[in-house]
Amino acid sequence: MSKTWRPATQLVHGGTLRSQYGETSEAIYLTQGFVYDSAEAAEARFKGETEGYIYARYGSPTNDMFEKRMCAMEGAEEARATASGMAAVAAAILCQVKAGDHIVAARALFGSCRWVVETLAPKYGIECTLVDGRHLENWEKAIRPNTKVFFLESPTNPTLEVVDIAGVAKLANQIGAKVVVDNVFATPIFQKPLELGAHIVVYSATKHIDGQGRSLGGVILSDKEWVTEHLQDYYRHTGPAMSPFTSWTLLKGLETLPLRVKQQTENASKIADFLAEQKQVAKVIYPGRKDHPQADIVARQMRGGSTLVAIELKGGKEAAFALQNALDIVKISNNLGDAKSLITHPATTTHKNLTDEARAELGISPGTVRLSAGIEDTDDLIEDFAHALSKIKA
Ligand SMILES: Cc1ncc(COP(=O)(O)O)c(C=O)c1O
Repeated sequence: MSKTWRPATQLVHGGTLRSQYGETSEAIYLTQGFVYDSAEAAEARFKGETEGYIYARYGSPTNDMFEKRMCAMEGAEEARATASGMAAVAAAILCQVKAGDHIVAARALFGSCRWVVETLAPKYGIECTLVDGRHLENWEKAIRPNTKVFFLESPTNPTLEVVDIAGVAKLANQIGAKVVVDNVFATPIFQKPLELGAHIVVYSATKHIDGQGRSLGGVILSDKEWVTEHLQDYYRHTGPAMSPFTSWTLLKGLETLPLRVKQQTENASKIADFLAEQKQVAKVIYPGRKDHPQADIVARQMRGGSTLVAIELKGGKEAAFALQNALDIVKISNNLGDAKSLITHPATTTHKNLTDEARAELGISPGTVRLSAGIEDTDDLIEDFAHALSKIKA
């Protein structure tokens, strides 16, 4: 594996461990355990004197390939694959805090992520302050002497707000706190949080990394020191490890990630431009457009727009439901990052547990829908929207 390979090459070849059979496609090592040549060899392995696998909850060859390929892509030293994105988020946060510590998190988070910091962490004596993450001064004001972790996603789900990652990292470094970035919406193609100064990156690999609706998965990436000090024991002893079969699926997903994200982004961008001109649409939020409220930060920290578009319809919930029901190619689903175009109504699905007030703070109105653009033909998708919009009142 060469460090100088460009991303598309890393995503096809990075981390490959070829067996004695010389297989082209990565092998799936579906094993729980490993055998040793002798009792002495087992002892040495457990003492850490020799390299090798011990038990699949700790690590295994197919997971190793996936983790190394992700490291190559992300510019990280270490990675740990998890059974879902939420297992990655929970582990990345909880492994490094203790009772009496304080977390500052952006309030615009995926519902389950928000539950981890807002509801779960306080049960264990870990305090959390939620802030409007768009403005750096809010992060600064929330800092306390016991602040240990900053947590954010950017762009956010579903209204595609962005957070200045380098700015938050600078604040965190001043107080010795760690920044955890959920990079799901940006994908590893468009945003490199570690290069921007973040310390830990997490993904729901369920989204673009699989990208074909098959597997739940997650991954945590950071430097060797942080993984050894905080994550290693937590990961080994609480057991969020990914199945090797899932790792294999995701290795296949990584091979085509740049191609899929490129086509999805092209579709998203063209659909966003089309929708912005339609009389039934009040507002389109798309990080690739000049009218994005934080276009300057997008230009600074992202290498591309997004595969997602937030659309606000003038006719509220009635129009949002009518649009979804009238679409044919675009399917109604709360998942995202898939080869298939998917649309959801956050107020009644992904963000239904928030109060009306909390939803309003996040810019989620009854007329907001979130589109995850797939890889279908662009013109077919635009025609699908044009036909569906014609069915709703302006
Ligand atoms: C931004 C974000 N983070 C984390 C998750 C959780 O991932 P998973 O469903 O793989 O647990 C999701 C989606 O479900 C998400 O959209």
